[in-house]
Amino acid sequence: MVSAYYQQASVAISGVREYFDKTVKPSVREKYSFVVEFLQNPSVIGAIVPTGNAAANLMIRKITEDTSKKELRILEIGTGSGSITKFIIRLNKTFKLDAIECQPKLAAIVRQMVTDAGKTSLVTVHEKMVQDFYKDHKFDKDHKFDYIVCTLPFNSFPPDLVKQIFRQMEDTLLEEDGEISTIEYMFIPTIRLFFQKIYSLYDSEPYKKFKAVQDAKEAFLNGKKVETDITFWNFPPARITHAWKVKKD
Ligand SMILES: C[S@@+](CC[C@H](N)C(=O)[O-])C[C@H]1O[C@@H](n2cnc3c(N)ncnc32)[C@H](O)[C@@H]1O
Repeated sequence: MVSAYYQQASVAISGVREYFDKTVKPSVREKYSFVVEFLQNPSVIGAIVPTGNAAANLMIRKITEDTSKKELRILEIGTGSGSITKFIIRLNKTFKLDAIECQPKLAAIVRQMVTDAGKTSLVTVHEKMVQDFYKDHKFDKDHKFDYIVCTLPFNSFPPDLVKQIFRQMEDTLLEEDGEISTIEYMFIPTIRLFFQKIYSLYDSEPYKKFKAVQDAKEAFLNGKKVETDITFWNFPPARITHAWKVKKD
């Protein structure tokens, strides 16, 4: 019974999506597609709306401020519908961008965005999970990235996967002096931990799992040079963290 309703709702959503695809301008369509993907895969998408312009620009602040003349190699992980990608591809810099997105419909939107901007020679869109991108990239020692812009929804991942992705980003994908930018909603993790702590009177697993994810994120930042940006011009307000790889002697 429930699955029949779910099927009907999915058909209705697909119908509305088709109508939007034909009639609505791209920027609205991108946001709409993102929300639809969230409704269908909440834990994979991890945010109900795309990152706003203010937070998107803060996510690429260190790239914008980079004054070196070399070609910058940028990796964006979890492009969604391209809310940050659109600013990267407009950069007035010499760059190469690899953009990863695992949801086919969102990857297609980003691919179209890149084509419309005439940047196909500078940008490669990888429709895959970052874990698979890592495997393919593992032995490509000459192509590491100067910047990684990562908006993966770590809070919905298992703690071991969070640790694994941070380790792979730092050890294999990032240049020696490279920098990783990540984003986190302000207050939400603290509020979630608080309620999960209360709920742990009945079941302690959700609290333990979420706490382990927060610990894994903190452990990644430990001992690194870190800069933080905050913006209230985002829904919800966001904290952006820029962290530099620790140089190995
Ligand atoms: C929170 S959204 C961010 C989207 C967009 N960058 C933004 O800021 O609006 C996270 C994105 O990561 C993608 N994603 C989730 N897990 C992934 C994985 N393992 N590999 C690649 N992309 C993933 C989701 O499909 C989603 O589009």
